Formats: sequence, structure tokens, C-alpha cells
Amino acid sequence: MEREETLCHCMEITKGELEDAIKEKKLTTVEQVQDETEAGTGCGSCVYDIQDLLDEINGNR
Ligand code: FES
Repeated sequence: MEREETLCHCMEITKGELEDAIKEKKLTTVEQVQDETEAGTGCGSCVYDIQDLLDEINGNR
């Protein structure tokens, strides 16, 4: 998935925007991402993608 791609369609937030927010604010949980960016607060179908991104960035796999 490229940075330009929309990860949360409900809130129209791209993967890149989330990546930057996670890194800048050192987010570690989906809940923190939801509070900071509103991504994942609509239909909820992107929550697993957010978790994947968190794992990737925070090196949990
Ligand atoms: S696509 Fe992210 S909450 Fe619906």
C-alpha cells in the first residue's frame, strides 16, 4: 500500500497521514490513533489496517 492511498475511507485519511501521526506522536494503540486522527471512528472496517500499520511502524512483528 502506498502512502497516497486512502486507508480510512470514512474519514478520508491516507496511509501516509496515519504513518506520520503514529511516528510523530508515538502512538501505539488503535484507540490512540482514533483519538488523534479520527481514522477508524466511522464504519470501523479499517481498524485492522490501522493495527497492521501500528505493528509495522512499532516493530511488533
Ligand atoms: S474506513 Fe475507516 S472507519 Fe470506515
